[in-house]
Order: sequence, then structure tokens, then C-alpha cells
Amino acid sequence: MTILITAGPTREPLDPVRYLTNRSSGKMGYAIADSAAAHQHRIILISGPTEIEIPDGVDFIPVETAAEMYAAVEKYINKADIAIFAAAVADYRPAEFQDQKIKKHGDTLTLELVKNPDILGSCRDKFHFTGTLIGFAAETQNVESNARGKLERKGCDLVIANDVSRADIGFDSNENEILLVYKDQTELIEKAQKSHLAHIILDLATKLHRTS
Ligand code: C5P
Repeated sequence: MTILITAGPTREPLDPVRYLTNRSSGKMGYAIADSAAAHQHRIILISGPTEIEIPDGVDFIPVETAAEMYAAVEKYINKADIAIFAAAVADYRPAEFQDQKIKKHGDTLTLELVKNPDILGSCRDKFHFTGTLIGFAAETQNVESNARGKLERKGCDLVIANDVSRADIGFDSNENEILLVYKDQTELIEKAQKSHLAHIILDLATKLHRTS
């Protein structure tokens, strides 16, 4: 099977030396890519900047901004049977890129930000993707209901939610505890190594695909 995975943060440039980003390490997405490649699936890994080595045997598409990630997903998604969106895409980017380094002036500086496209939310309506669609939800409160809202709005078959207010799991950690939110049920997978969770997620994704 062909599996498209997005991973890592995006980086939204402000001027030649500065950018806006977030704390995503890319570990979860890369662990899924590793696990899937070991199972002989074809992997298209579309990744923002991370410190992680590129897994062997994957088609690696490096991107920086949300706009670049959007274009890469649009180009490749219909080659995939399953798409897993583990990237932490910046919701907003600077309204303008300044060609020259922004100089210090007053005591405050106001930045104008504009909304980035919702890549996962574009898969069904804009890219006409009909395969199995899996999203992530990093939440700090109302984890299940927020994740269920995303499942419905973005046309996903499964949303994998985690509580990013906990210091022991999630962003930049090697461990995670996840809530699997399906259309008709919810299931908790207790705290485990991301590599172990990656196997579980891959297994669920292929089962969902077979039964769809
Ligand atoms: O809406 P929210 O950002 O919480 O949704 C998270 C899910 O949507 C993740 O799977 C993330 O990869 C995806 N996403 C995206 N493009 C965005 C924002 C989020 O693909 N602009």
C-alpha cells in the first residue's frame, strides 16, 4: 500500500533571519514512517524541518512553510491509499515577508498574521481524496469533543488525540498517550513509546482501509 505521512512543524518566515514555528519534533510522524517502511509499504513522507534522520526506504519531500506542505500534499495525495497527518502546521503566517531584516524601533512591534490553508481539511473537498484519512489533534482541554469536531469537519476516518498540556507526553517527548476517536467509538491507548504507538496506528490504519 502507499501511505502519505505529513510530519514535523512548519516554519513561516518573517524576514531573512526570523520565522514563526512550534515545538513539534516530528517524532510521531517519523515513527509511523519507520514502521510502515519496515512493513514494505511505499511511504511518501512530507516533512517540515526536524532533527531526525530520514528513515530508510521512504520517498522524502522536505518542505518549510504550510503553503509548501499544502502544494506537496496536493501533488501526491491521490497516489496514496492511506494519508496520515501528523504535522503541526502553523495556523497563521506573517502577512508579509520583509526582504530586509526588521530593525528595532519602538518598545512594541505588532505583527499581522494571516490564516494558512487547512491541508487536512482540504483533502476531501479540494483534493477529492477517497482513501483512508487520519488526522491528529493536539489539545489542552476537552480532548475528546475537540477531536470529534475535527473528525467531522475534516472528513477523517480516525482522529488521534493527545493532551499537550501534560509535560510527560506529546510534543518533543518519546512517549505519548493517545485517544482514538472514530466516527462511532472512542478508545484510549495508555502511555507508551511513540515507536510502539506507531505500530498500533499503522495496524489500525491498514485495518480501516481494508474495511472501508
Ligand atoms: O485544526 P487542527 O490544527 O487542530 O487540526 C490538526 C490536524 O489537522 C492535524 O492532523 C494537522 O496535521 C492537520 N492540519 C493541517 N493543516 C493545517 C492545520 C492542521 O493539515 N493548516
